Amino acid sequence: MGSKPRVLLVDDQPSVLDMLRLFFERAGFDVETAVDGPNALKKVDETHPDIVVLDVMMPGMSGIDVCRQIRSQPQTAQLPVIILSAKGELDDKVVGFEAGADDYVTKPVARQELLARANALLHRAQYTKVPTARVVAFVGAKGGVGVTTVAINVAAAMVAEGKSVTLVELQAHPGTMVHHLNMALAQDLGDLMALDASELNWREVNRRVVQHSSGLRLLTAPQDAAEYNLSPDHAKAIVDALTIRTDFLLLDIPTVAGKAMRLALEQADQIIMITEPEMVSLKAARAKLETLRSWSLSDRTRFVMLSRSPSATMMRRNEVETELGLTPDGSGVISMIPPAPEAFQQASQIGIPVIIGKPHILSARAILELAAWLMKHTQDI
Ligand SMILES: Nc1ncnc2c1ncn2[C@@H]1O[C@H](COP(=O)(O)OP(=O)(O)OP(=O)(O)O)[C@@H](O)[C@H]1O
Ligand SMILES: [Mg+2]
Repeated sequence: MGSKPRVLLVDDQPSVLDMLRLFFERAGFDVETAVDGPNALKKVDETHPDIVVLDVMMPGMSGIDVCRQIRSQPQTAQLPVIILSAKGELDDKVVGFEAGADDYVTKPVARQELLARANALLHRAQYTKVPTARVVAFVGAKGGVGVTTVAINVAAAMVAEGKSVTLVELQAHPGTMVHHLNMALAQDLGDLMALDASELNWREVNRRVVQHSSGLRLLTAPQDAAEYNLSPDHAKAIVDALTIRTDFLLLDIPTVAGKAMRLALEQADQIIMITEPEMVSLKAARAKLETLRSWSLSDRTRFVMLSRSPSATMMRRNEVETELGLTPDGSGVISMIPPAPEAFQQASQIGIPVIIGKPHILSARAILELAAWLMKHTQDI
């Protein structure tokens, strides 16, 4: 909020608007006005008011509809709204509150009361303002290298640190996240891809998010065989909606290609590429790094080396960095996760991430350190 709070006054009667304008200007507010619903929504977008005072009965779009619309958009879901209406019946008030109003005041209202209510809401809003999430994207050098495993375990580690975390398996084809967690989910990303991207507001997206028993919030890839398409508009709208009301948004990204994935990756504060310490993986990782570089995203990219089998020839960190074309100083490869095939297999059988079920094994410790690194390094962006 700047030095002066900004109020948007919405009423179809110019005389009422003039009177309200006077009230609020005298009380030190910057005032914006609108005489109908569509214009009010436009002003909300353009002038970013701190609070809205909304008439109900207006021709065309009612104040109730305006309020619902404000609540459904992630950018304005938290915006304080006072409904100021001539309709004072109990039913009218209930409709107003159900549409998401913070307060309901009936006309005529005393100047002092309206201002006191507005100031109370503004005061509270300062403390309830929800910071937008830090976004971490996990990508694989190639398929099957452990992206979903790492994403789930990092998410669980963050939850254990008291963070609110949403984890999304952002792909149109069936994924394995539900199997890693041994869950059967009635809703997933397929439900969102079946909608038009323009319908993907905060509410629609968040109502598809499922809570795991650990507290982790999940949106998993579709499980059915329908042909879904994750358009760039879908990807952007979904990521946008999920960055509200959570500390961390973790994205499990299947591939570094295409516009939808590019848009999702552009919203990430950190990109973590998982690769195995063997030649094919490293060559694939290097090619993907080139793509990220061409998208101007390589600066925020770091690598995690994961060995899934004890027999794999372990390359050293600086060897791996040289192979990736990085300066061999340990800053590009931020974590080396050793193999523990039985532990990870058992974890998915019981649906309990390794960092919870077996926190002391080396692989779990490496992932816990990775999570701590991410929490530290995404803090001051
Ligand atoms: N440190 C580890 N040691 C041994 N096995 C592991 C380790 N980490 C993951 N795995 C196993 O590797 C397999 C593949 O992991 P995961 O599904 O996470 O990969 P992915 O990159 O997400 O694959 P996909 O491309 O199918 O999405 C799983 O069976 C998992 O249990
Ligand atoms: Mg996966």
